[in-house]
Amino acid sequence: MKKGMRKGLTSYGDERFSLFLRKAFIKAMGYSDDALERPIIGITDTFSAYNACHRNVPELIAAIKRGVMLAGGLPVEFPTISLHESFAHPTSMFLRNLMAMDAEEMIRAQPMDAVVLIGGCDKTVPALLMGAASANVPAILLVTGPMLTGSHRGERLGACTDCRRLWGMHRAGEISEQEIEQAGAKLAPTAGTCGIMGTASTMALMAEALGMMLSGGSTVPAVHADRLRHAEASGTRAVALAAENLTPEKIMTPAAFTNALRVLLAIGGSTNGLIHITAIAGRLGIDVDLQEFDRLARETPMIVDLKPSGRYYMEDLHKAGGSIAVMRSLSSLLDHSCLTVSGRSLGDNLQAMESDWKQDVVRPLDKPLYPQGGIAVLHGNLAPASAIIKQSAASPALSQHEGRVVVFESLEDLAQRIDRDDLDVRAEDVLVLRNAGPKGAPGMPESGYIPIPRKLARQGVKDMVRISDARMSGTAFGTIVLHVCPEAAVGGPLALVRSGDRIRLDVDKRTLELLVSEEELQRRRAAWKPPAAHTGSDRGYLKLFIDHVQQADKGCDFDFLRQEQSSGRAPV
Ligand code: FES
Repeated sequence: MKKGMRKGLTSYGDERFSLFLRKAFIKAMGYSDDALERPIIGITDTFSAYNACHRNVPELIAAIKRGVMLAGGLPVEFPTISLHESFAHPTSMFLRNLMAMDAEEMIRAQPMDAVVLIGGCDKTVPALLMGAASANVPAILLVTGPMLTGSHRGERLGACTDCRRLWGMHRAGEISEQEIEQAGAKLAPTAGTCGIMGTASTMALMAEALGMMLSGGSTVPAVHADRLRHAEASGTRAVALAAENLTPEKIMTPAAFTNALRVLLAIGGSTNGLIHITAIAGRLGIDVDLQEFDRLARETPMIVDLKPSGRYYMEDLHKAGGSIAVMRSLSSLLDHSCLTVSGRSLGDNLQAMESDWKQDVVRPLDKPLYPQGGIAVLHGNLAPASAIIKQSAASPALSQHEGRVVVFESLEDLAQRIDRDDLDVRAEDVLVLRNAGPKGAPGMPESGYIPIPRKLARQGVKDMVRISDARMSGTAFGTIVLHVCPEAAVGGPLALVRSGDRIRLDVDKRTLELLVSEEELQRRRAAWKPPAAHTGSDRGYLKLFIDHVQQADKGCDFDFLRQEQSSGRAPV
């Protein structure tokens, strides 16, 4: 197998000339012949001045390079797409697959014997792992790390559960315009990813459980010196990974995905984690079975006390022992034999790390925060393929609920009507938002956290049953049913619901039913017309997206990017 600069030569029809030309150009970077004979370690540079979650990437790259060179390799960073949640129109999920394609093709196109992936903000970790899985070059993941908490008028704040909580108070008239602006300046006080159990933290912990990150790396705060040491160690280890040819497919096995799914449930992780891990698994031909995932959910207690389901922040989890404390507590439910990027098994890694001291952020299995995993999978005539609910962040009083439906046709309709005083809505109603799924929105935005109508918010209503084919930020909370499949835009039953119908949700029974007769639904189905095509969907990336994006239960990856040949199921 060709290595280093000899890998993947540009096609000129003369290999020796291709190598000669490549070396001639790279020498303009000032490298010596000795350097160019070393193992080459690519480093994805996901810095962007739009992306504060990745503000520390330049210093992480410096530390990774140090580690690579200490081990005798040549580090070469290269740019990739960088995605920040609030700087991606219409939604970062629309661009996740583009970033995954960029990562895959640039890892494959450029000569590198191993690659260090730097992710952080929500979509970046899944995109990089999807790309690395498909490129199947030895890869090790590093995250930028969680940000520290801020403080406003003596109250501790963390992005972005508190962003939503404070905004809810502002909508209800409890916080003035001036105060919400002041609080906004304190919500994200340092570099790094959201400091609660949002999607970024969830993906970091899952990636470590999957075996793609060195032990303990998922929870070290972005601004701690330990994060730089972790980066250096990742660079050093990447050189060994290249020598061992330890490729992602040898690490990301069905058993490893099962470990990651266990961790997702035990940490009360973001619902987005399920979509992303399904997409990563799909790149290796592994199917995530949602029925089996729900079985896992019933036997995996939630043990981490972090917002939005609990009380604490990521920096508290780190002080409490971080990912190691989580996985040690979960130890009896994990497969210890899974190989990791360290070259050792997960079990060996856990034994080698210290983490047992008195703390109350990570609970023992027999004293959980919630008796089941954070996410439950629902089925019924409204969600024949599936829907999910983050039960740990839902109101117990609403987990069995029947109510009259108020339908919002689209995101625009929602924005226009939700705050009108003449909106016919009551606290016990069920709010339905449709045409907000992968094809419908497009990109399946995080709009499933439908705001409480202003007139009810002013009366003190804090939660209602809300149902959509959209996603929800991992930082949000409430009795919110998401990822209804198939989505309304492709004719799923959500498209047939009318205001005034009744819906019954029963989280214990895992059911979601539209209480309308099958004959009436048939009549509505016959009269249904798909929504008008999105402007601009006749060309470019939007066309590619609309033509090929899969439903949420398949991870929203493009159909042609999945590995066709099956190599197993998870959970096992
Ligand atoms: Fe980047 Fe939350 S916005 S992790």
